[in-house]
Amino acid sequence: MSQLKEAGFEYYQLKNKLQYQGMDEDLEKLTKAFDHLPSDEYAPHLNRYRRYARALIMPRTHEVKWLPETKIEGKDYYEYFQGSFNPEYMGEYRRFPALTKESMNNRLLEEIIRFDFKETFWMREDALMPFHAGIHFVKLLVENEDDTAVSSPNNLHQDGEPFTFAHLIRRNNIKGAMNAISIPEHRGKMPEDVADSEITTSFYLEEPLESYSVYDPLVTHYVGEVEKGNEAGTGERSAILIDFQPTVIADPDQIRSMHGDTSKMIYV
Ligand SMILES: [Fe+2]
Repeated sequence: MSQLKEAGFEYYQLKNKLQYQGMDEDLEKLTKAFDHLPSDEYAPHLNRYRRYARALIMPRTHEVKWLPETKIEGKDYYEYFQGSFNPEYMGEYRRFPALTKESMNNRLLEEIIRFDFKETFWMREDALMPFHAGIHFVKLLVENEDDTAVSSPNNLHQDGEPFTFAHLIRRNNIKGAMNAISIPEHRGKMPEDVADSEITTSFYLEEPLESYSVYDPLVTHYVGEVEKGNEAGTGERSAILIDFQPTVIADPDQIRSMHGDTSKMIYV
């Protein structure tokens, strides 16, 4: 059994696992994409920058297909609905600027998505339809001595999606960003308020493509805030976060489109 399946989390040095000709160039291009991330319009004061995209992955063939973006005032977005899981954004729709076409066509990104998906495991009933992958490019950037950048939510939490993978892209001139894993009972707490013996593990991602995964029901996870390091210039922590969920046929009462209010319904 994999560590992910047994313990609910796993660490990977992905650079050693994904080896193909041209990978370094692809990594360089993906890294460059983080130079041009727009500010997170839902948290501009948190020094957070991001893009997002949605893909489908076929069971068995592992073929990856990007969902189309929504165009709003000439710009490409993906809409996002997190249900009630992130306490900072209870049941709200958000929208994020889309990943660029260049990033979506990057072979390394596709290899990462496929690697991650192959680590996931499912009940047979949930595996009949394509799976949904949400791909977040997130950069925490600190420019001044007393700036801090925080991840959301800023505590031990669960994402509400069965699996989340984090892949470091660049860590440069920062302090902090400690990762911690704990048990579900400590959801909502800060790691320093939890007994050391109940922090399953804590670690720092330092090198490009150092990665970890969580199977959400078994663990809580945390990323600490980021401060500028001692060198001159800005500090940055950039990562790709990928979550997976099944697309399943819902109960008719759970389907908003079965409520009968056709005036609110749209053609897609
Ligand atoms: Fe999370």
